[in-house]
Amino acid sequence: MKEKTLSSAEIRGSERTALSVENLEIGYRASRGIVHAVRGVSFDLLEGESLALIGESGSGKTTMGLSLVRLLPTSAKVFSGKIIFKDDTGRQLDVLNLEKEGLRRFRWEQCAMVFQSALNALNPVLRVRDHFLDTYKSHASSGRVDEKKVIERAKEVLRFVQLDPDRVLNSFPHELSGGMRQRVMIALGLLLNPKVIILDEPTTALDVITQRAIIDVIRRLKQEHEFAMIFISHDLSLAAELADRVATMYAGRVIEIGNVEDVFYKPCHPYTVGLLRAVPTLEGGRKDLISIPGSPPDLIDMPSGCKFHPRCPYATQQCMEEEPPLIDVGNNHGAACWHWQRVIQDWEAGKDAYERDSD
Ligand SMILES: Nc1ncnc2c1ncn2[C@@H]1O[C@H](COP(=O)(O)OP(=O)(O)OP(=O)(O)O)[C@@H](O)[C@H]1O
Ligand code: SF4
Ligand SMILES: [Mg+2]
Repeated sequence: MKEKTLSSAEIRGSERTALSVENLEIGYRASRGIVHAVRGVSFDLLEGESLALIGESGSGKTTMGLSLVRLLPTSAKVFSGKIIFKDDTGRQLDVLNLEKEGLRRFRWEQCAMVFQSALNALNPVLRVRDHFLDTYKSHASSGRVDEKKVIERAKEVLRFVQLDPDRVLNSFPHELSGGMRQRVMIALGLLLNPKVIILDEPTTALDVITQRAIIDVIRRLKQEHEFAMIFISHDLSLAAELADRVATMYAGRVIEIGNVEDVFYKPCHPYTVGLLRAVPTLEGGRKDLISIPGSPPDLIDMPSGCKFHPRCPYATQQCMEEEPPLIDVGNNHGAACWHWQRVIQDWEAGKDAYERDSD
């Protein structure tokens, strides 16, 4: 039977779309060749929605995020694709073709990014108040800067992330804890009230208590404001807690995408299954908690066919020869796997394909 492929229009397909990514291909120049970091990625982000991008280290999550705000390093090249952003007036911005001034206003005013390793992203010789003033001056569209107004807004967003504005604004970054600096970075992202905020690994490198505090801030952002959010994480529990939709990335591609309940309770891609079985449960019942065998592919010289086949317990000859498209498995849920029906059947029957394979 011929499978129905999930087209980009079906992955998207809503007038409430805030951001659409279509067939994006990005590579980095390296001495051995091109690192194919993002390969044919398409998805939509709806207004007010939160989408989690999950996947192992090196799967292309940060590259994807940086491309959305056009902050890729110079060694990167966008080979093809489109990023369309709908601004507050409903106008569609073609992000990859924005000119300097349009881009300056787009960043932070429409779409802000809190960077991975944000803990080191603040300038150590500037007080926090100067970070807010600089961000405003660099990105706000209104000509004259009313410093008093900017500081008032800074205080508002700092209070939102549960920091004491008077103390924090006058501090240098080194005077703040890691959790406080992460919150300052989130507050800076909120300064110009963007429509979309991208959070790259917002809780990595923080202790468990501080992680919890940051998760609470993100949850309030989602509940009390209309931000659409992309958060990038390899922490599945964070995604389960905060996301409306989840996209799993592997070797630069989105290999599974759907509502959080569908992807986590009815995974149709063996890689997502592998990620899920590596998450400890509260009951602690899974003695067989192990990571996916093997390692991610070399993105310069990738395996043939499905890039997951060398690690996949379901792999067949077809998998080695043909890379599967994102197949429509129902309910706007897509999985790039030729054998998705077997994968979901085994999952629902409680069969562990990885364990069977290693026997
Ligand atoms: N500046 C660069 N030059 C060359 N290759 C790069 C560069 N930045 C990233 N890469 C490569 O691109 C691929 C994707 O990297 P990326 O940082 O987007 O992954 P990631 O999913 O965010 O990983 P992590 O979870 O470790 O943050 C990796 O193979 C990485 O080595
Ligand atoms: S297409 Fe084949 S190799 Fe790829 S994930 Fe599916 S079963 Fe595994
Ligand atoms: Mg990253």
